[in-house]
Amino acid sequence: MSSFYSRDELASLGLASYGEDVLISRKASIYKPEKISLGNKVRIEDFCMMIGPLIIGSFVHIAAGTMLRTSDEYPIIFDDVTGAAPYVHIMTITDDYSGPFLFGPHFPIQLRNLKKGIVHVKRFVVIGTQSVILPKVTLEEGSSVGAMSLVSRSTKPWTVYFGIPARPIGSRDIGLKEKYEEYVKVQEKNCSKDKSQYQS
Ligand SMILES: CC(C)(COP(=O)(O)OP(=O)(O)OC[C@H]1O[C@@H](n2cnc3c(N)ncnc32)[C@H](O)[C@@H]1OP(=O)(O)O)[C@@H](O)C(=O)NCCC(=O)NCCS
Repeated sequence: MSSFYSRDELASLGLASYGEDVLISRKASIYKPEKISLGNKVRIEDFCMMIGPLIIGSFVHIAAGTMLRTSDEYPIIFDDVTGAAPYVHIMTITDDYSGPFLFGPHFPIQLRNLKKGIVHVKRFVVIGTQSVILPKVTLEEGSSVGAMSLVSRSTKPWTVYFGIPARPIGSRDIGLKEKYEEYVKVQEKNCSKDKSQYQS
C-alpha cells in the first residue's frame, strides 16, 4: 500500500478543492479540510500538521514534519512553485509573550492577546529546514530562507535570508524562474502534441 492517499481516498478527506498529482501522506494530520485548497502537483509528507484555512498552489512541496497553523480568518497562502523543508513551522496566530496577558487554550479569549495575520509565501520561495515564520509575514517572490531561521518581518524579493532574526545575506539568482518557465513551455508543447494525435 502506498504511503500516500489514493485518489479515491483523497476524495473522502473533505478538502475544499484539489487538482491533479496531489500526494498527501497518510501520516499527515489534517484539520478543517473544508478550508484547505490544493492546486496540481502538491506533495505533503509524513507528520505534517495542516490546519485550514490553507490556500496551496501548484508545484508545492511541504516536507515531513512541517506545521501549518492558522486561525479562521488568517490563512497561510503558498503560491505556485514554493516549498517548505522538513520541520518548518508557519503560524498565523500566536499568543502575546510580553506579559500582560494569559496564554494558551485554557483561558477565555478576552484574557489573551492573540497576534494574528496572514502568511503569504509567494512564487519561487523556499524555506529551509526547521525555520519558523511568524504571523503577518510575506515572503516575497523568489526570496529564500536558510535552515533554522526565524522570520518575523516580510522579506524582499529575490533575496536570501538566514539567522535569528533572519537577515538578508545576498541576492538570489533568478535563473530558477527562467528554468521553470522553459519547463512549463515544454510541458504545454508535449501536451498539445499528445492531444493532436487524437483529434479527427
Ligand atoms: C542559507 C543557505 C542557503 C546559504 O547557503 P550558501 O549560500 O551556500 O552559503 P554558505 O553555506 O557558504 O554560508 C555562508 C555563511 O553563512 C553561514 N550560514 C549558512 N547558513 C546558515 C544558517 N541557516 N544560519 C546561520 N548561519 C548560516 C555559514 O556558516 C557561513 O558563515 P561564514 O562565512 O562565517 O563561515 C544555506 O546555508 C541553507 O541554510 N540552506 C537550506 C538547507 C535546507 O534547509 N535544506 C532542506 C533540505 S530537505
